[in-house]
Amino acid sequence: MDLDALIADRETRIVVCCGAGGVGKTTTSAALALAAAEAGRTVVVLTIDPARRLAQSLGLVELDNEPRRVDVPGAPGELHAMMLDMKRTFDDVVTAHSTPERAQQILENPFYQALSSSFSGTQEYMAMEKLGQLRASEQWDLIIVDTPPSRSALDFLDAPNRMSRFLDGTMIRLLMAPSRTGFKFASAGFLLFSRIVSKILGGQLLRDISAFVAALDTMFGGFRERATATYELLRRPGTWFVVVASPEPDALREASYFVDRLSAEQMPLAGLVLNRTHPPATTVLSATRAQGAAEEVAEAGGDDAALAAAALQVHADRMQQAAREQHLADRFTSAHPEVAMRTVPAAAGDVHDLDGLRVMAEALTGPDGDTPTGTPRTRVLSARRG
Ligand SMILES: Nc1ncnc2c1ncn2[C@@H]1O[C@H](COP(=O)(O)OP(=O)(O)OP(=O)(O)O)[C@@H](O)[C@H]1O
Ligand SMILES: [Mg+2]
Repeated sequence: MDLDALIADRETRIVVCCGAGGVGKTTTSAALALAAAEAGRTVVVLTIDPARRLAQSLGLVELDNEPRRVDVPGAPGELHAMMLDMKRTFDDVVTAHSTPERAQQILENPFYQALSSSFSGTQEYMAMEKLGQLRASEQWDLIIVDTPPSRSALDFLDAPNRMSRFLDGTMIRLLMAPSRTGFKFASAGFLLFSRIVSKILGGQLLRDISAFVAALDTMFGGFRERATATYELLRRPGTWFVVVASPEPDALREASYFVDRLSAEQMPLAGLVLNRTHPPATTVLSATRAQGAAEEVAEAGGDDAALAAAALQVHADRMQQAAREQHLADRFTSAHPEVAMRTVPAAAGDVHDLDGLRVMAEALTGPDGDTPTGTPRTRVLSARRG
């Protein structure tokens, strides 16, 4: 996978980093954005990172709902970063698409307040909304999108639809039917149903929802159209998906689902980033031989022997781990031979500054061969191609 060429290509306008929770989506997004700025692009990275790790790693005290310029000394391009504030994005949409009085009504509505800050899917929906805004502004020639820490990577693709279906409100409309059309048209069964719902949800909530729906009524079409438009944006040429996974069965299974889904939706996949792999320092000594040597040396007794035995044991463990990771990578590749793969070794500590991001960017975009330490990464995880 040639991410270097991909981000340098002026035709590339959007890169979306997806994957299971905690695999390194945010870090990968930031590293790619840094590499893009260093390749001369004017790039903004849209992060969805409540843990604020990105702000930290970019040396920013704070990221808010507007892009902030990050100083990258010597870079010919520009790096901007922002963190999605989903409630503010939602508020802005409401304000932009209704009259001031109506907006006021909606914003103050308790049901709206709950929906805009906690409804599952709101984050994904608002990420798409923000992406649409950034794209429309034409201020950046590349937008890198991080995705929310969802349980499933598919949530990012599913949420906007779910959300607009919800706002479109088959259920809400059903619930509201009596108050809209007058009780006289509602069937006895429906009256009973809505009385039960009202009991469960509480009369006040039902009135809140009713007021919300009434106020939002004019926007319904708008929301659905916008979700559809942004979804289409993801399918247009110039958009690429990068799927991130760790070398673990769950993360790779998740990546597999996601890859299948992208291909079903005809969305362009750049490839898979296998992040936090553990290549051994050398592959000259096999796990079995290291293990055997560790046992032999340990028998000799003494401090030096114990130390040597421990070092050999670490190497044996590391070789075994590398073999496990290789096996998982191979399994993924045989299931998806068309998917390019790139491995990124685990850094010694967390990636929390520009230097750390630069090392990661190098692994993502550098020559597809040896690591900076001269370790033949390809021999450990040779599944990558492209
Ligand atoms: N290659 C790496 N080497 C070492 N640490 C890494 C590497 N990649 C990511 N990390 C660390 O792993 C942690 C999780 O990474 P990150 O926040 O990017 O994951 P994420 O997929 O965005 O998580 P979430 O799903 O919670 O949003 C961070 O502390 C990050 O610094
Ligand atoms: Mg994240």
